[in-house]
Amino acid sequence: ASTAATSVSISGDISSQLHGGYSHPLARSWQAERQLTKSMLIYPLFISDIADEETLIPSLPNQHRRGLNRIIPFLEPLVAKGLRSVILFGVPMGPNSKDALGTAADDPEGPVIQAIRILRRRFRDLFIVADVCLCEYTSHGHCGILRDDGSLNNQMSVDRISDVAMAYAAAGAHCVAPSDMNDGRIRAIKLKLIESGIAHQVVLMSYAAKFSGCLYGPFRDAAGSCPSFGDRKCYQLPPGGRGLARRAIIRDINEGADIIMVKPASQYLDIISDAKELGKDLPVAAYQVSGEFAMIHAAAKAGVFDLKTMAFESTEGILRAGASIVITYFAPEFLDWLSN
Ligand code: PBG
Ligand code: ZN
Repeated sequence: ASTAATSVSISGDISSQLHGGYSHPLARSWQAERQLTKSMLIYPLFISDIADEETLIPSLPNQHRRGLNRIIPFLEPLVAKGLRSVILFGVPMGPNSKDALGTAADDPEGPVIQAIRILRRRFRDLFIVADVCLCEYTSHGHCGILRDDGSLNNQMSVDRISDVAMAYAAAGAHCVAPSDMNDGRIRAIKLKLIESGIAHQVVLMSYAAKFSGCLYGPFRDAAGSCPSFGDRKCYQLPPGGRGLARRAIIRDINEGADIIMVKPASQYLDIISDAKELGKDLPVAAYQVSGEFAMIHAAAKAGVFDLKTMAFESTEGILRAGASIVITYFAPEFLDWLSN
């Protein structure tokens, strides 16, 4: 009688029994399609043109702006722990370093080109991404060249941005990543890479779906790239624009992007998922931006949650949505956390 009772109860609700499948920590890890690994991480670096500078950015916890003399000693322990990639943002600090054309962006003596050279020489296996934009170098702080009415001159901006990308690639960047959002820049960069015979050894990563909003503040403090007037709403995407993001992603794939990036990350998980669906044959990167990072730190400090737990939970969400590359200020911590 007892045997019969048992079999009846099992056949009644067998499909409701899920706990057994994830009772063990290893079995829980198997539930994810992708596990976070060190090789997925790209760490943002702010490189200033003051060689000995090392300045903490108050709004961006534990992150510094560093001069050329400071990057190697800073990176050595991180590379030893397994850091595989960095993305470089140049920060000109000199009083006369900015102009309407962003001339300093591809100055051969400037911080980005010099950093590319130094890093390539010192770290054989480090994958160097150069962010390509003009906002750090223009007097007005916008991501291109402006018309008299203050709007972007698309053709001039694309010509200039693609020249800057070429200069970084020629200096040895493994990857160029235009973050400016001017129409047609992926095609322009790809064509110049092809023309100069280096397209076969340079990755072109497009900030394809980059949304405007309030999450870039700490970055602009670090990079000194706040626009002097107006905002970026006429070139970065409106937060509700899912269809527009899909069009931008498709456009950039067709123009020759090798990697599609979505930015910010956690507020735009549906866009990451769209990017993976539209670009199922190329890697999708997500940028957990400065405001997301600062927010997590602030909440952890306020006792809302544990910092490490949220660093993992937010990143796991980003991977689950479809990313396999994560640009994050948490990279140094993850190198430690993923070692145990
Ligand atoms: C602009 C650019 C931005 C970031 C990197 N490059 C956004 C902006 O200032 O509008 C933001 C990255 C971050 O917040 O961490 N070229
Ligand atoms: Zn910019």
